[in-house]
Amino acid sequence: MKALCRKSLLRRAFILLLVCMICFTACTSEGEQDPEKEKEEKTGIKIGMSVDSFIIERWRRDCDVFVSKVKEYDSNADVLVQNANGDIETQKSQIRYLIEKKVDVLVIVCIDSESLNDVCYEAKTAGIPIIAYDRLIKNSNVDLYISFDNEKVGTLMGEALIEEGLPNRRVLMLSGPTEDNNVLMVEKGFKDVMKQHGIMIKDCVHAAGWRAEESASYVSQHLTELSDVDAIMCGNDNIATTTIRTLAEARMAGKIKIVGQDADLEACQRIVEGTQVMTVYKPVEKLAQAAAEYAIQLAENKTLTGVNDTIFDGTYNVPYICLDPIAVTKDNIDETVIDSGFHLREDVYMNVPDED
Ligand code: BGC
Repeated sequence: MKALCRKSLLRRAFILLLVCMICFTACTSEGEQDPEKEKEEKTGIKIGMSVDSFIIERWRRDCDVFVSKVKEYDSNADVLVQNANGDIETQKSQIRYLIEKKVDVLVIVCIDSESLNDVCYEAKTAGIPIIAYDRLIKNSNVDLYISFDNEKVGTLMGEALIEEGLPNRRVLMLSGPTEDNNVLMVEKGFKDVMKQHGIMIKDCVHAAGWRAEESASYVSQHLTELSDVDAIMCGNDNIATTTIRTLAEARMAGKIKIVGQDADLEACQRIVEGTQVMTVYKPVEKLAQAAAEYAIQLAENKTLTGVNDTIFDGTYNVPYICLDPIAVTKDNIDETVIDSGFHLREDVYMNVPDED
């Protein structure tokens, strides 16, 4: 009897053990409770983002959209954002820090197109791919350059002024720094239109580090010479803001037509108020979103999809994604910056009294 009992106990224990083993195998084969596998899934990608500075309105938006798109894809992803505050040496050392942190990919808004080839080489040697965000990094063989069609930005500015009329056939250019490769492309587009229409470019000034105060001080020092200028092409809306302010202080507001780029809120307000002719809207959400998708592909060692163009960086032909910029005037501001949600209608029309 005793022996029988022990036998049945042993049998039960054996069955229990078997059931446990089956359960354990089933769980792990579905990969739900395997601690090793779980760890693997939670180790998100690491992206290093180096930004010129956040002084200009658009860059905060670029960065926020980029980070949120990456997080949407991988909630465990880590985006290390470094702000160089417009200083080239700081940008270099921040990129080196990101290399040391072993990021999977680097996304760079460069300050100076010519001065990052050393650090880019270091990154590539460490096996870290690079995306040149919005501004081309020269001679560095980056893995992707993604931007807007900057030459077209200049073309759109020029065409808007031609359409408005330039009776004295003279314009002034208050551009950004030549270290930013975009500046050269925008200028090319603008100058080509002026040339086609026989318009003289009275002067072309470059604000170092995109410092709008420099453009403003040029304007205040050349007020008398500006009396025969029909229009000022401003390198961006921030320069347009200080230019218009300086002209207003000299009681010259409204006499000179102004164009800019970025569709900054203040510029959009001026457009509906009539003190700025146009701006160029660059849907930065699209840029940031695409850059996030490509950064993920590079971080995961995948081949980039849908990149069919290349651009010459001075030494290499690098993969290039080029988005379309949009001219914004009083006539289409509602369908462009407002309908897309870039700015709220009540903000743009804040200073314009209701018609009824
Ligand atoms: C960008 C502009 C921006 C400027 C200053 C340029 O490279 O194309 O959109 O306003 O930099 O930050």
